[in-house]
Amino acid sequence: MKKMFLFYSSFIGISLLICSFSLNKFPEENNSGIIPVFENTFKEVFQIFNENCIECHSGDDAPNGLHLTSYSEVMNGSENGKVIIPGDPDGSELVKRIKGLSKPKMPLGREKLNDEKINIIISWIEAGAKDADEIIVQEEIIQIKKDPEKDIILFSDVNSIFNKHCIKCHMENGKMGTAPEGFILTSYNDIFRGDERIRIVPGNPSASELLRRIKGKSLPQMPFDGPPYLNSEEIKLVEAWIMQGAKDENGNEAPSITGRKIRLQGILTDKWKLDDIDFEINSSTRIDKKIKTGEQVEVRGIIGTNNEIIVERIKND
Ligand code: HEC
Ligand code: HEC
Repeated sequence: MKKMFLFYSSFIGISLLICSFSLNKFPEENNSGIIPVFENTFKEVFQIFNENCIECHSGDDAPNGLHLTSYSEVMNGSENGKVIIPGDPDGSELVKRIKGLSKPKMPLGREKLNDEKINIIISWIEAGAKDADEIIVQEEIIQIKKDPEKDIILFSDVNSIFNKHCIKCHMENGKMGTAPEGFILTSYNDIFRGDERIRIVPGNPSASELLRRIKGKSLPQMPFDGPPYLNSEEIKLVEAWIMQGAKDENGNEAPSITGRKIRLQGILTDKWKLDDIDFEINSSTRIDKKIKTGEQVEVRGIIGTNNEIIVERIKND
């Protein structure tokens, strides 16, 4: 009997506790039993991830294994551990990254999130980083919406591929410190920047070292940390973009590349051909004596007025 009483009184006690807790914490609780405070907050947080992060943080090659496409994945964290510590925003790696206190800062290569967005994430973590309803999202968010055979492909269509797979290295202060070979892929202007050799020949995909690298015709194949490499749809889209003149996001023609330096690698299939690209050889072209067809070679040259390649040097790679 005494036990029974204790049981009931503690039951009532606990119920009262839960009751008062819920009343304080969730004044807006409504009849449907849904708790709007948390629901709204996680939805807002999720919206921020959706717009700013999952382009990279999704799929098989999500950086450091951190997927931001569902509540459970966000809470599971990365291969380095948790990125959210409920109740402790300052100790949460994700907050350190968006505040720029932990490097590289996130979103990688982009402008910092505005204060309002940062505060939404912080207050969600402060309140315990709770889930709301199950929010179900499809894993692979980047979908190629354009048909490379029919549609006009602009820089904005291929930029998300570069953002996801390339800029972690090909940016200032990226994963490798300075960008490898000085090649920065974070904006259209950087890609065509005048002080380095050109890696894209508008209208001529096979003479574009960028395409050769993602196809593995030039080695090492890109992305350097692959496999996985780009899938065939992604490669086709980049190829179509170059074929159509590598236009900027507004459809403007690419800047002239006449006189720019070029360096290509590949197998010499004929004298003088690299796969399907023809070369112009002239009396001043320097060619290593021992070069044979079927070998891996490096070709250096400059771009002529019709975007043809005028070869200065062919050597064994
Ligand atoms: C352009 C691609 C890209 C975008 C966009 C991006 N990230 Fe990242 N993120 C990366 C890469 C690459 C790394 C790995 C960097 C490194 O080596 O530490 C990373 C690492 C992280 C880490 C560290 C994971 C760990 O524990 O190692 C966090 C946290 C993170 N990102 C959060 C975010 C958030 C939040 C956003 C959106 C606001 C975001 N990222 C947007 C590419 C991106
Ligand atoms: C993990 C780091 C990393 C990633 C990710 C990466 N690269 Fe690279 N990239 C390198 C390194 C290192 C080199 C120099 C390799 C060499 O030639 O020895 C390089 C070289 C290149 C070159 C040759 C530059 C030149 O001057 O000839 C191109 C083009 C290139 N990368 C394009 C890409 C593209 C496109 C992607 C994404 C699909 C990508 N890279 C992803 C590290 C990376």
